Amino acid sequence: MTSAFDYNERIPNNVNLAGDRTLQRALEKWQPNFIDWWKAVGPEGTGGYDVYLRTAVGVDADDWAHFDYVKMPDYRWGIFLAPAVADRRIHFGDHLGEPAWQDVPGEHRANLRRIIVTQGDTEPASVEQQRHLGLTAPSLYDLRNLFQINVEEGRHLWAMVYLLHRYFGRDGREEAEALLERRSGDKDNPRILGAFNEPTPDWLAFFMFTHFTDRDGKFQLKALAESGFDPLARTTRFMLTEEAHHMFVGDAGVSRVIQRTCQVMNELRTDDPAKLRAAGVIDLATVQRYLNFHYSVTLDLFGADQSSNAATFYGSGLKGRFDEAKFEDDHRLQGESYEILEVKEGRLEPRRVPMLNALNEVLRDDFIRDSANGVDRWNKRIERTGVQLRLFLPHKAFNRRIGTLAAVRVSPHGQVVSEAEWSANAAEWLPTHADRAFVASLMGLVVEPRKFAGWIAPPAAGINAMPLEFEYVRFS
Ligand SMILES: [Fe+2]
Ligand SMILES: [Fe+2]
Repeated sequence: MTSAFDYNERIPNNVNLAGDRTLQRALEKWQPNFIDWWKAVGPEGTGGYDVYLRTAVGVDADDWAHFDYVKMPDYRWGIFLAPAVADRRIHFGDHLGEPAWQDVPGEHRANLRRIIVTQGDTEPASVEQQRHLGLTAPSLYDLRNLFQINVEEGRHLWAMVYLLHRYFGRDGREEAEALLERRSGDKDNPRILGAFNEPTPDWLAFFMFTHFTDRDGKFQLKALAESGFDPLARTTRFMLTEEAHHMFVGDAGVSRVIQRTCQVMNELRTDDPAKLRAAGVIDLATVQRYLNFHYSVTLDLFGADQSSNAATFYGSGLKGRFDEAKFEDDHRLQGESYEILEVKEGRLEPRRVPMLNALNEVLRDDFIRDSANGVDRWNKRIERTGVQLRLFLPHKAFNRRIGTLAAVRVSPHGQVVSEAEWSANAAEWLPTHADRAFVASLMGLVVEPRKFAGWIAPPAAGINAMPLEFEYVRFS
């Protein structure tokens, strides 16, 4: 970047980048490394594609979704805060009623940095996880949606890097570099959270990921949008507008897979997985196993069911509850309790614990309710086809790796089982190598406009009111 560089044109923003030399200097060092990262581990082999993408060029209704063809390395990753709320106050925890912080409160600096880095780390991780999917997209429409999510996760990384650069000085700059150095699934330098080190090898996994794991993103962002640190609250509030599309892609993607499978079930008058697979669609039992996997690893992202960190983050005013303002309690929660599940003599039993320590569980339960609504929508889709099978959310103790429930084996229906029973049934409950190999065998790039792979139904409508036959990606 030179001094003639037009910051506002190249990096759309509403944080006065053009007038902030310190921030400019930090970004001048970081931005080339970001582009190198994108080219090395971003969407594979796509540098020359023209993609019909939305770009945020402002935060107003007219500006936040500007659609045009873009080559992805030239995408204008911007920095946006939702509009300030006048006289905003901290509305929970020990600082309740005090003015929201416009600068980092010294006593909470380390925790705040940790929260921002942990959120920031998930954004590039998902781009890395999804980098090969463009090679096997079931349609141009889906390919475009994948790339839209990828560039917006890139922008979410920028959002967190902005906070690190602007508010954390030297150690913030070091953390921003480290966000480009960790790699999803790397043994020596993995991403921070488990689900972000799992592969996303095929499009069913991608749709499950965007349905469940991006939904975790929504709940984390909603909790951070309550933060007493106002820049964090404002940046996450704007990120949520983009997150909605990511969840839509997952929700509708799974729904279209189901739709196509049910159509073939009706045509062939069978629910035999082998016959359905031979006909080139994904049997619902396999869909259920993928669901079980992605849902359970996503539940772990909320953290341990009892956590002193969660209590500290809340008490300090750094991270609130989902829709904090809607609770009619004292927003301090001293003396309140909450029910968690505990393992007692080989059984799951409810136990009440101090709510402050259980705030991870509170957020996880909010997520579970939202996820259940999603499965209801999928089941309505199945019901309309006349097919009798139904999908379900596994029990929250199923396949957990974090917290109290990691100590026990639990079936999808909530029965505590022995290690032997688990091993005997795991192939019914979680995707097997054979399942993944079968799904992989269906994957193949479909690029003719208006054509869709045989295992997925077309969507109800195009993007930005464009028709389905629109050329969403040009390979020129
Ligand atoms: Fe994100
Ligand atoms: Fe997302």
